[in-house]
Amino acid sequence: MSRYLIANWKSNKNRQEAQAWLQEFARQLKGGLDAQLTEQDILVVLTPAFPLVPLVADALTQHQLQAVTVGVQSLSAYPAGSYTGSVSARNLEGLSVEYALLGHSEDRRYLHTNSHDVANQVEHCLQTGIVPIVCVDTPYLQEQAQALDSVVLPEVLVAYEPLAAIGTGDEYPVAEVAEVVTRIRTVFGKVPVLYGGSVDAGNVAGFLEIADGVLVGTDSLDVADFTAVVRAAL
Ligand code: PGA
Repeated sequence: MSRYLIANWKSNKNRQEAQAWLQEFARQLKGGLDAQLTEQDILVVLTPAFPLVPLVADALTQHQLQAVTVGVQSLSAYPAGSYTGSVSARNLEGLSVEYALLGHSEDRRYLHTNSHDVANQVEHCLQTGIVPIVCVDTPYLQEQAQALDSVVLPEVLVAYEPLAAIGTGDEYPVAEVAEVVTRIRTVFGKVPVLYGGSVDAGNVAGFLEIADGVLVGTDSLDVADFTAVVRAAL
């Protein structure tokens, strides 16, 4: 089964910074890393802010990277239509977006996205051929599973993102994460489960032993840090 390394840039980086990052990342990967990732069925998903999506997609095509693809960090809970300020799944068609992070704790906290919004986003993603990655934390794990239509459950990836570990450098013990991963599989079914929260090159291998992938925030911003995470995952 595939494993995933998700680089979540959040709302960081302008065009120039993204370009420099991509240039160096491609250089690193073409030295054999890209082939190793492909061989081991590890997929890297870069999730930039919306305006940078075409830039990232074009760079991946230009450098012919096989093991890297593009995702977004959210999308509208509404369909295409009169929803000023929103980005609908339809807006993303034709832009090579393959994955979408949904219901990240920062999205829930600052933009007030709730579990029902996430359920709608999941529907829109699936209609558009985008794979939804539903982010959860223990207080609303059950609530989120119940908000999803049971027929879509086998189609989603779930990411366990404990609030206390996000952006803090306070890494969670692997054994604790493993327990929650098991709980998630009980509640959501046999879906791939990812982990996110202060993942770095030093701890990624441990998390990949008990989860199907990781989300990397802080350590995805600097290309050297992220490349180190990628190498440590092999
Ligand atoms: P972090 O962010 O790696 O900075 O903890 C992870 C995330 O928000 O997914």
